[in-house]
Amino acid sequence: MAMRGGTKAGLAGAVGGLGLLGVLAACMPQGTGAAPSGRALYADYCAACHGDSGKGDGPAASGVSPRPADLTMLAARNGGVFPVVRVMGKVYGYSQGKGGGGGPMPEFGPLLDGPTVLVETAPGILTPTPERLVALAEHVERLGKR
Ligand code: HEC
Repeated sequence: MAMRGGTKAGLAGAVGGLGLLGVLAACMPQGTGAAPSGRALYADYCAACHGDSGKGDGPAASGVSPRPADLTMLAARNGGVFPVVRVMGKVYGYSQGKGGGGGPMPEFGPLLDGPTVLVETAPGILTPTPERLVALAEHVERLGKR
């Protein structure tokens, strides 16, 4: 499936039938240089608090209350299923403020906006989602598989 590197116009249609895992696979960096790197985004935006490994032990973590979440346990704590929609919502900022006050983690939506891909966020619901956000979530998912 030559999705990455194909035309943008063809991407939405090609992705439609695949569901989320298909989208995530399509967004794996393939060495073209054009794909946003989830690893680089994570290093820039997340590692200070959550740590390179995602365990919540970054250099800024001790100054943050509550402590940054351990991102390596997200799937394990969710019945073995990586909660990708929750993660993307949290990072983008949709779930900010829920439960009152928001917490210390910033919203990254404005930094991640750009070209979108369609992600199946619920059965049959395809939501245009920034590529950079999807790449970031995909990297966070990998953190739990080491
Ligand atoms: C300023 C420190 C800080 C930065 C930077 C930060 N986070 Fe967080 N993050 C937190 C804290 C603290 C929590 C736990 C409290 C909360 O949920 O708000 C958290 C919670 C989360 C959660 C929720 C975990 C769960 O159990 O549902 C996810 C997912 C997450 N962060 C991912 C990221 C990603 C990805 C980035 C980079 C784009 C990032 N964070 C950047 C501090 C930070």
